[in-house]
Amino acid sequence: MPLDTARRRCAVVGLGARARFFTEALTGPYADRIELAALCDVNAHRMAVHNGWIAADHPGRPPVPAYDAAGFEEMLRRERIGLVVVCGVDRTHDDYIVRALEAGCDVVTEKPMTTDAPRARRILDAQRRTGGQVRVAFNYRYNPVHAAVRETLAAGSIGEIGSVHFEWLLDLRHGADYFRRWHRDKANSGGLMVHKATHHFDLVNWWLGTTPETVFAQGGLFFYGDEAGRRRGLARDYTRAHGSPAADGDPFAVRLADSAVLKALYLDAEAEDGYHRDQNVFGPGVSIEDDMAVLVRYASGATLTYHLTAYAPWEGYRIAFNGSEGRLELLVEESTWTRPDARTDRASAVMHGAAVGDEAGRTELTLRRFWERPREIKAASGEGGHGGGDIRMLADLFGEHGPGAGGHGTGGPGPGAPDALGRAADATDGARSLVTGLAANRSFETGLPVRARDLLDI
Ligand SMILES: NC(=O)c1ccc[n+]([C@@H]2O[C@H](COP(=O)([O-])OP(=O)(O)OC[C@H]3O[C@@H](n4cnc5c(N)ncnc54)[C@H](O)[C@@H]3O)[C@@H](O)[C@H]2O)c1
Repeated sequence: MPLDTARRRCAVVGLGARARFFTEALTGPYADRIELAALCDVNAHRMAVHNGWIAADHPGRPPVPAYDAAGFEEMLRRERIGLVVVCGVDRTHDDYIVRALEAGCDVVTEKPMTTDAPRARRILDAQRRTGGQVRVAFNYRYNPVHAAVRETLAAGSIGEIGSVHFEWLLDLRHGADYFRRWHRDKANSGGLMVHKATHHFDLVNWWLGTTPETVFAQGGLFFYGDEAGRRRGLARDYTRAHGSPAADGDPFAVRLADSAVLKALYLDAEAEDGYHRDQNVFGPGVSIEDDMAVLVRYASGATLTYHLTAYAPWEGYRIAFNGSEGRLELLVEESTWTRPDARTDRASAVMHGAAVGDEAGRTELTLRRFWERPREIKAASGEGGHGGGDIRMLADLFGEHGPGAGGHGTGGPGPGAPDALGRAADATDGARSLVTGLAANRSFETGLPVRARDLLDI
């Protein structure tokens, strides 16, 4: 039974940069279906900043009640919450997901669903025990060009798939950002194999309709970190950029005071938790990798060669599917080069360069069937964040058929027509993408292949 049949009441946990995507949706286009009824974070300042933005967008709307992390259960009870959006630091996701499910709520969680196998187990067990819905916000599934890949493969256009070759490049702005923030500590993020590649491993699982079996990987810290920085003369003597003369002119430094959003959300919030969002990418304490090579064998028999680089001159990805009747190739250039001076007032654009027109690149999806000329496949252009995936995912999460529509206990989408592309990702999908990254991390440590089911039997 839905907890609130009239208008579902939703809480957002973790009010950082990404949360704005959800708070804007819930106070804007989806406000008539779902009520943003509470915020929860360890940092009261950041919640106040979000309330300020909401008030600016919706004059006269009363502030959303804000709760400290310790008051999570009280918030669920007092605010009669039916849906929890989990959007905080990755290592904290599992705790909120499980507690929300235990309290009878459904959950939308940001990716990665969690950061290790025991945490994933807890979520899967809680989901089964409570019958609540868990949806993982894999927005890349909703990018129209990724949908076109799925349709083309499912139509059998290249026959049976033997292998996938997938390279993802993060540029010097976006890639570097993971080394300035909490992500640089593997205990927080699981490293980029978990935090970032969870999107990519999920896409492959979804595109191929299969599951990972064996993973072998090599990875390390090649470019960022203190040792590499010193060796190449890129290191500068500062811990965090703000107030450090040594950071002046450093193209790898982010300047919180220059961006109204970053200043409000992080610099002005430091007094409460001491969190510095502008750490030196060539400073000590980096425990994640920046260059990762992965080889996966799937239950279908297909293989994947995957590479993630976090220090590239441009951002985007190339994927090739080799099939028994041809090959499908995708090239996406999200940026063609990295400006050293990019400035913008939107936190996401600071990382992605979305406001900088001359960096924009192209998207090409090419079908090369045996004995035929290559054919370009046109996909709808993707407006908005993540190639248009963000706005489409919101409609699926909070629109007529998403968990926000009610239907607690159904374990699937709400009432209405199912999505032919099967884009809604649940806790099992979250765990299946996670396990590839966890196995890669294990393989980095041991130098040996890892069986996915030895880490997590899903
Ligand atoms: N799908 C996507 O494309 C996408 C894009 C960006 C971020 N994300 C995800 O969103 C999440 C948040 O990322 P972000 O960039 O907003 O990070 P952020 O650092 O800006 O925000 C994290 C927030 O979590 C809060 N927090 C920390 N510990 C907490 C705790 N114990 N309880 C409650 N709140 C706590 C922090 O105070 C902060 O407000 C991450 O899981 C990230 O992977 C997803």
